[in-house]
Amino acid sequence: MSTTTTIASPAWATSDTDLTGQTVLVIGGAGGVGEGVTRTLLDRGATVVVTSRRQSTLDDFTARVGDPRLHGETLDLLDPALGERTAELKTTYGPLAGVVLSVADWGRQGRKPLLALTDAEWDELIVQNQTTIFRAYRSFLPALAPDGMIAQLNGLSADLPFPGAGGVALTAAATKSMTRTIAAELGGRGPRVYEVILGVIRTRARQLAGVDDDRWIPATHVGTHIAELVAGTSPLTGDDLHYFVDLTEGPRPA
Ligand SMILES: NC(=O)c1ccc[n+]([C@@H]2O[C@H](COP(=O)([O-])OP(=O)(O)OC[C@H]3O[C@@H](n4cnc5c(N)ncnc54)[C@H](OP(=O)(O)O)[C@@H]3O)[C@@H](O)[C@H]2O)c1
Repeated sequence: MSTTTTIASPAWATSDTDLTGQTVLVIGGAGGVGEGVTRTLLDRGATVVVTSRRQSTLDDFTARVGDPRLHGETLDLLDPALGERTAELKTTYGPLAGVVLSVADWGRQGRKPLLALTDAEWDELIVQNQTTIFRAYRSFLPALAPDGMIAQLNGLSADLPFPGAGGVALTAAATKSMTRTIAAELGGRGPRVYEVILGVIRTRARQLAGVDDDRWIPATHVGTHIAELVAGTSPLTGDDLHYFVDLTEGPRPA
């Protein structure tokens, strides 16, 4: 089902995880990385609920993927009624085996030095990239099955300076901290919480824009790692912080 893989899969990626009967929610699942994750989860037998803020995006996405186990649901993490919306989804789909946060917003400011951001640009970047993740954890952790898992996908800007995109990078660092704090506060009781730091990902959007490199990680391979985390078969199941920045090496602990 992959639209992105054009080179042989590394050994670590040839997983046969079976997620039949499990339901996974992918927030931002119609986005670049989310699409690959969604396709792999479907390929492994899961029922997948993908969210977008726009019904038209969901209609296009579900038609393109064309899988009866794929469901589209509108959701805005900044919706004041997010709690009620989460309850509706839990009623419809039951306790979730997994939630994937594949959420990002580069903002409208373009590349500019951090201190050139206006107050409005700053506020928007924080709300779109940090408040969203906070609200997602607060709403969706209680919607998970007790042995379920929630994973935030993040980028290396969580650790590294990112001149020209500092507003996004500092929210990456903050949400990495947020995820690890939540994992520590749970202390192994209840759902598992993962921070997955990604390198450059091959996405459909990039390929459509003519930007591609076969050394990058196919988005479907991110899905392979997520599938193993949902199933609890990944060697990293007991670690809360994962790096997946090298295609050959695959996911590794911090
Ligand atoms: N692409 C890469 O190379 C790369 C590398 C490292 C890490 N990552 C990480 O992967 C994740 C996804 O990135 P991407 O490249 O796939 O970006 P993307 O294509 O822009 O997808 C981001 C998604 O976030 C969703 N979103 C934004 N604001 C939202 C809100 N208020 N409520 C609900 N959903 C919201 C959007 O959904 P709708 O617009 O459909 O509503 C969109 O589909 C991010 O965490 C990013 O840091 C990506």
